Order: sequence, then structure tokens, then C-alpha cells
Amino acid sequence: EKEIAIAIDGPAAAGKSTVAKIVAKKLGYIYIDTGAMYRSLTFSVLNNQIDINNSDKVINHLHDISIDINANQQVFINDENVADAIRTEEVSKNVSAIASIPEVRQEMVKRQQKLAEKRAVVMDGRDIGTQVIPDAEVKVFLVAGVEERAERRHTENLQKGFPSDLDQIKRDIKKRDKMDSEREVSPLKKAADATEIDTTSLSIDEVAENILSLVNTKM
Ligand code: C5P
Repeated sequence: EKEIAIAIDGPAAAGKSTVAKIVAKKLGYIYIDTGAMYRSLTFSVLNNQIDINNSDKVINHLHDISIDINANQQVFINDENVADAIRTEEVSKNVSAIASIPEVRQEMVKRQQKLAEKRAVVMDGRDIGTQVIPDAEVKVFLVAGVEERAERRHTENLQKGFPSDLDQIKRDIKKRDKMDSEREVSPLKKAADATEIDTTSLSIDEVAENILSLVNTKM
């Protein structure tokens, strides 16, 4: 059976990672969460009190650290487990600024391309179909209304026992989408050959099934 690359892009909280994990598991592929890489750098920059507006320092810091994600989605910066630390509001608020630095993206894309070299990957992010794996056999662009996405994230937070403010989530999602869509270098954008799936009225399993049927046509 042929091993392919699957690129899943879309705005914040569109369900990309949830669906990507299901698809990867079904196929026995590796799942790579590229957002976790940008979040890790952001966490480390904040944690080391580096000025996020000083792009030279941010870039140098990226060259100094290793970011590793294992099969269980545990994220490590130089062997320190930061899986929870990268999900804070503080990181979410600052990540889009860090991700807009061209040299940061260049280095991240290089690292991500290396991870996708052998195929058999499901990778999610904002620029996977456009920049990281432009020749991915399957490209999907997930969308859903901002209300729906905020509601889902809110419910997820409450289920996990995290404090959660629906209006705050909505504002943060809107702001992040705006920054990610308007940045100069590889903005959030549907690749011309990507299949758009509106997940607003679909269950997680239905979205996964949709993607798996696209995969079937390529194998
Ligand atoms: O996927 P997630 O929402 O965790 O990503 C966090 C942020 O990382 C995004 O809002 C975006 O600024 C950045 N990102 C990116 N390119 C990617 C993945 C994430 O710019 N491929």
C-alpha cells in the first residue's frame, strides 16, 4: 500500500488536531501538530524573558532549542515536557506574533519538511498544504463558524475542568485568525487544490470519514 502525506489546515479551533489524530490512528500514520511547535517556541521565549518583538533574539533562541513531539503527543523542549505549558492563554495570545516572523517560519518549515520526508504523516497547521507539503496527496481545509468553534473550545475546557469564558475565547479566536490570515509570510490560506470541509454541522467522526474517503481515492 502506498504511503501518502495528508495536510490539514484551517483556522483556530476548527477541530484539526482531533480529526488528524483519528485519521492518523486509522492509517497507522504519524500525526504532527505544527501548532505545538510554534507554541513551544512562544512558551520558551516568554519563559526566558526574551522580548517577543526582538525577532533576532527570537530566531537565535529557536536555533538554540530542540522541539520534539513523541507519538503520545507529549511535547519536549530540550527534554523538558511542555505539553501542558504550551496550552495556556498566555501562549495562545502571543503565538501569532512569533509565527509571523519570516525567519521563524523558514526554520519551522524546514524542520517540518524533514518530519514529513518519509510520508505516512498527517500534519496539521495553517500552511501545510501551501508551504510545508505542497505536494501532499490529500489536502483538506477545515472551516466552521467562529461561534461554533468558540462553543466547542468552551465545552472542551469545561469538560477538562479548566476555567473558561466563552466571550473571551471568541475574541481570542477572532484575533488569532485575523493575525494568521493577514501576515505577510505564508498566511492561513486554503491551497488551490485543497478540499474544503465545513464542519459546522458535522460530527468529528463524520469529518474523519470524509477525509478517509479522500485518502482512499489516492491509495
Ligand atoms: O494549531 P494551533 O492553534 O495550536 O496553532 C497556534 C498558532 O501557531 C496559530 O494561531 C498560528 O499563529 C501558528 N501556526 C502557524 N503555522 C502553522 C501552525 C500554527 O503559523 N503551520
